[in-house]
Amino acid sequence: MKRILVTVCSVLILAFGNKSLAAEPFEAEVEARQAFMQVLKFNLGILGDMAKGNREYDAKLAEALAKNIHAASQMNNGAMWPVGSDNSNSAISTNAKPEAWSQYPKVAEKHGIWIEASGALALNAGNGLSELQKNIGAVGKSCQGCHKLVKADD
Ligand code: HEC
Repeated sequence: MKRILVTVCSVLILAFGNKSLAAEPFEAEVEARQAFMQVLKFNLGILGDMAKGNREYDAKLAEALAKNIHAASQMNNGAMWPVGSDNSNSAISTNAKPEAWSQYPKVAEKHGIWIEASGALALNAGNGLSELQKNIGAVGKSCQGCHKLVKADD
């Protein structure tokens, strides 16, 4: 009896395990990269509110958030972007256009612009509101620059 129960449980676990894996191709990768982007938006959003005067400028927080964005720009996230995980496959809930792969040298260039702009922001965001204001625009533009090329709803 015990053995049967164990077997039934294993079969159930296997069935569920397979089901969640088969639910959507590249589900984990797409979830991870969208969550990564949300983290960027969260950090940049607070900085944007400070820059616009919608939130009190806080030098330490501004520096920390800007450094987060710069650190994120330097992560090697290649594993989140497997070939074939673009929106030409209707089974995948992604806004990543095939251009993210087919235009790769251009995408790498956009990525480079983001690394550079966020580096300048990381160095300056903690040096006063006007320095934050001077350097945040280029970061926002670097996000948009890539989105225009590779993100479907932009
Ligand atoms: C190198 C290209 C690139 C750069 C740079 C980039 N993004 Fe994205 N972003 C994408 C792609 C591609 C998607 C679509 C991902 C998907 O749906 O699988 C995306 C999606 C998003 C999303 C939507 C996520 C969701 O929940 O669906 C947000 C928000 C976002 N990006 C914010 C940012 C911010 C903020 C920056 C800059 C600090 C940034 N991105 C920089 C390529 C980029």
